[in-house]
Amino acid sequence: MNFNNILTEYYGGITTITINRPNKLNALNQDTINELHHAFKEADLDEDTKVIIVTGSGEKAFVAGADISEFADYSVEEGEYLSANGQKVLFNFVENLSTPVIAAVNGFALGGGLELAMACHFRVASDNAKMGLPEVSLGVIPGYGGTQRLAQLVGKGRAMELIMTAGMIDANKALQFGLVNHVTTQNELLAFCEKIATKISQNSSVAIAAAIRAVNANFQDGVDGFNMEIKEFGKCFGTEDFAEGTSAFLEKRKADFPGR
Ligand code: COA
Repeated sequence: MNFNNILTEYYGGITTITINRPNKLNALNQDTINELHHAFKEADLDEDTKVIIVTGSGEKAFVAGADISEFADYSVEEGEYLSANGQKVLFNFVENLSTPVIAAVNGFALGGGLELAMACHFRVASDNAKMGLPEVSLGVIPGYGGTQRLAQLVGKGRAMELIMTAGMIDANKALQFGLVNHVTTQNELLAFCEKIATKISQNSSVAIAAAIRAVNANFQDGVDGFNMEIKEFGKCFGTEDFAEGTSAFLEKRKADFPGR
């Protein structure tokens, strides 16, 4: 598929997806959301891609939110569809990918931008990043999973305050809150994420996919995470990666995982 609003690049087991609407601070319009769905899907299906990094183009923004100009005159039904469809095709989709996704938050991550970063498996921010869910300042609430994931990541009280005030926190506060795992300079951000990605890519992709399912199970209604862990743990014993990982350890050599 040809993309107009995003760029994708593959190198050394890592696919980097860059949201590329710098003049609109990479705001997520519907076309961008659809393109992101396809780019994430392609990267997830690509056997050579072990880790996906998502970032924003330019020095100012990761993503400054959903594109406000697109939904300003929506009806109740259209608003509900916007949220439901976005959650399905992008935010829940990314969270449940088998391939690890790192958000490289290189500037403003507001509204849908922070929601996208929170749907990723973890986040690294540059020191100029500013994060928030300012939707109530527009008379609406976060609709791409923000009310749920922010509370999961930083706790209910902090999420309530950030959402109610429509405020922004800087990278160091986000680090203190556990919203991001690391803070780097803007120059070092992608290289830092690539270093973590390379470390991840040396491990069993089959086991990592199972770990993602098991960790996510804790946040799904009606799913027993401990039970999911037992099932996923058991399934690992039937994989070629497990045979290779254990043999390599016993033979005192580095594992070369087939990814099956
Ligand atoms: N939707 C649509 N367009 C957006 C946007 C969004 N969420 N965020 C920024 N833009 C556009 C601006 O309209 C402007 O376009 P223009 O040059 O054609 O007028 C361009 O991006 C640059 O933004 P600007 O506001 O001039 O930059 P700034 O440095 O003065 O302010 C922000 C930066 C992030 C503080 C400001 O853009 C902002 O508040 N954006 C909206 C954030 C928001 O509410 N997001 C949640 C949406 S639900």
